[in-house]
Formats: sequence, C-alpha cells, structure tokens
Amino acid sequence: MLRPVVQYPDPVLAKICEPVAEIDDEVRSLAKDMLDTLVTVGGVGIAAPQIGVLKRMVIIDVSLEKEQDDLPQDFRVFINPVITVLDPKPHEENEGCLSVPDLRAKVKRPRRVALDAMDLEGKPVHIEGEGYYGACMQHETDHLDGKLFIDHISFLKRSLYDKKMKKNRK
Ligand code: NI
Repeated sequence: MLRPVVQYPDPVLAKICEPVAEIDDEVRSLAKDMLDTLVTVGGVGIAAPQIGVLKRMVIIDVSLEKEQDDLPQDFRVFINPVITVLDPKPHEENEGCLSVPDLRAKVKRPRRVALDAMDLEGKPVHIEGEGYYGACMQHETDHLDGKLFIDHISFLKRSLYDKKMKKNRK
C-alpha cells in the first residue's frame, strides 16, 4: 500500500528508531508498504520513518553496486542495518531525499562502507560498496538515527534551505 512520504521538517524524521525484535506480519507488511511507496514515488532507497514508522528498516536498490544506469532496479529489505566504515577517506556525492523536497546537495561521507543486517527471512545479509552505492547505504541508515543528508551540509546552505521551507509553509 502506498503511504504518504513524511516531509521535512516533520519531527518524526528526527527520531531514533526502534530495532525490529521479531519478523512478523506487521514487519512484512511494513516492508511491502515501503517498497510500494518507493516504487511509486521513485528513488533508490527509503527508510521506515519516511512513511512514519519508527522501526530500523530500510530498502536499498542494490543494482547501484554495478554503477550502470541501464540495469533494472533491485530493491532489497535490510532489517536492523549496521554500517561499518571500511575506508574513511572522504568522498562526495550529490544527494537528495524523498523527505527533503527541492534540494540536492553535495555530501561528504566515508568512501567505502559495509552494511550488515537481516533480510525478511531473518537471515544475515552483508553488502559493501563505495561511491553512490556506499553513500546510499549511509544515507538510509542515517534516517534510523533521525539524521538527514541536510545534517551533513554547510551551515549556510542549511540556513538558506530552512528559510525557503519556512516561506513555503506560510
Ligand atoms: Ni533520505
């Protein structure tokens, strides 16, 4: 089921999410709603809080690993994901977010990371990558700790964006 995407500055996006204790029907149905929403609105990843559920779950397009634009998207569910930095050298990617309308910005993050999680069968999964793929893993997992990519941009850029959002809300 398609769900509305929570938009910044909704305070839900700044909350710390709860680990998933058990993979039950509720978790499976949440994964389906996240996927339906992501496919409908379009994107490379989504985190549960973006549809208003404070659970540690993300979906990432793992076809990004191949760095080829013509590949079909391949969405995987990651439950309780944990990021490990494999190469801390800063790397910059142009990021955007379904919850942060009308903004893309360069964000510096560690160049290469691993993500360890569980899949929907409860089996451990491990992916690693760099570039846009690595940035995507970090971006989505950040959501579970109430962090958005705009928390990584310069103070000036952030202030300009906040000002614009305030104006739009009036
Ligand atoms: Ni995002």
